[in-house]
Amino acid sequence: MKMKSKSILVISPEQSVWDAIENAVSDTPDVRVDTEASTLSQINGKAVKMASDYDVVLFQTSDDGDADINAIQALAKDRANGTVLVAMADDDISLSQARALNHAGVDEVLPISMIGAEIADQIVKIDRASQAAATNAAPLGKIIAVAQARGGAGSTTVAVNLADQLQGRNKSRVPAKPGKVALVDLDLQFGTVGSFLDMDEQDTLLQLALDGTIPDATFLGQSMTTMHNGLSVLAAPSKFAPLDSLRTDQVAAILDTLRQSHEYVIVDLPRALVGWIEAIIERADELIIVTDISVSSVRHSRRLIDFFTIDNVTLPIQIVVNHEKKPLMQSSLHREAAKALERKLDHWLPHDPNAANAASDKGKPLSSVAPRSPLTKAVARLAKTTKADFQTASSKLNS
Ligand SMILES: Nc1ncnc2c1ncn2[C@@H]1O[C@H](COP(=O)(O)OP(=O)(O)OP(=O)(O)O)[C@@H](O)[C@H]1O
Ligand SMILES: [Mg+2]
Repeated sequence: MKMKSKSILVISPEQSVWDAIENAVSDTPDVRVDTEASTLSQINGKAVKMASDYDVVLFQTSDDGDADINAIQALAKDRANGTVLVAMADDDISLSQARALNHAGVDEVLPISMIGAEIADQIVKIDRASQAAATNAAPLGKIIAVAQARGGAGSTTVAVNLADQLQGRNKSRVPAKPGKVALVDLDLQFGTVGSFLDMDEQDTLLQLALDGTIPDATFLGQSMTTMHNGLSVLAAPSKFAPLDSLRTDQVAAILDTLRQSHEYVIVDLPRALVGWIEAIIERADELIIVTDISVSSVRHSRRLIDFFTIDNVTLPIQIVVNHEKKPLMQSSLHREAAKALERKLDHWLPHDPNAANAASDKGKPLSSVAPRSPLTKAVARLAKTTKADFQTASSKLNS
């Protein structure tokens, strides 16, 4: 529920900070200031609910940068449209710390010494800009994460060809500009998207892992490869990178940046459930699990579903059964698998070695080497229903 007058929540353990803000806005009409004697990370759960009632939330950063970032992400994700998040940081905050706050969802970072005479002007300015942005902002792209029930189940085949189908064909000879779909190979150590698409080595993710920077739109735009049809690809590094060398905030920034400029962001997940997976799952609009219906694969799929839905109960999950064409009548094995997964087995990809081998020999998507093959057609159907499901979901939301 939005309050009529402008409301400000100040989260800081220091009385002097509250006083400075209250004094600064005391002459501005219709402004209410509430205070919370705490740090953002300590009142995380509560703050998420509170924030959506305020026009501006000002919080003082703490010494624990990671805890701040996690709390900001939770808060930024759930805030109502137009709630402005302002961090009050130490005066000697570094540029990279400020950018990390920004990437996590903070609208403005102000040095704490400025929290005085200028704060009222700052709040009005930030509020106006944010309202305008909220009205004009394009909707964020959909993030689709693709996981596998076992090694070799076919998750990269699905990720690459679903991305290709969602992007669509480019009939012209002239390569298309970066288009509406981004494909990100976060199978950091064993990723094969680059070889599926015959790409030159691309060590962007390794570079990020080594220097620890948070990528922005310019960096990603320059580092990603654009395929002929406009699909933008971020491949896994060709050299070995320890799985935990990427950080959660870096992965979050990759996805947040790409979903601002693409309609779909397809992520090929690693098999290991590394810490930064959380950043993907928190943001995912859909999870696809590629499996077969052997008992061990179904059990592993069930474990994946349980893991991914612990903190994200509403995450839509699609099961793709690979190497089997859609049966006319489901067998008892199929029914048992569906029961164990508590989901319908809606998507089936036939075993089609001719098409799969042609695609891997040529390093091209199925649609360009075997456009009429059963496997290509099945992936095209998967892309069509994926699009339709999102359209239905968004029209329900808007109605
Ligand atoms: N429906 C299919 N019919 C025939 N071959 C297929 C099919 N799906 C995938 N393959 C082939 O199976 C192999 C493994 O597929 P893919 O690399 O997509 O699996 P993955 O789950 O990503 O494996 P990894 O564990 O290596 O990440 C590839 O050679 C691919 O061409
Ligand atoms: Mg793979």
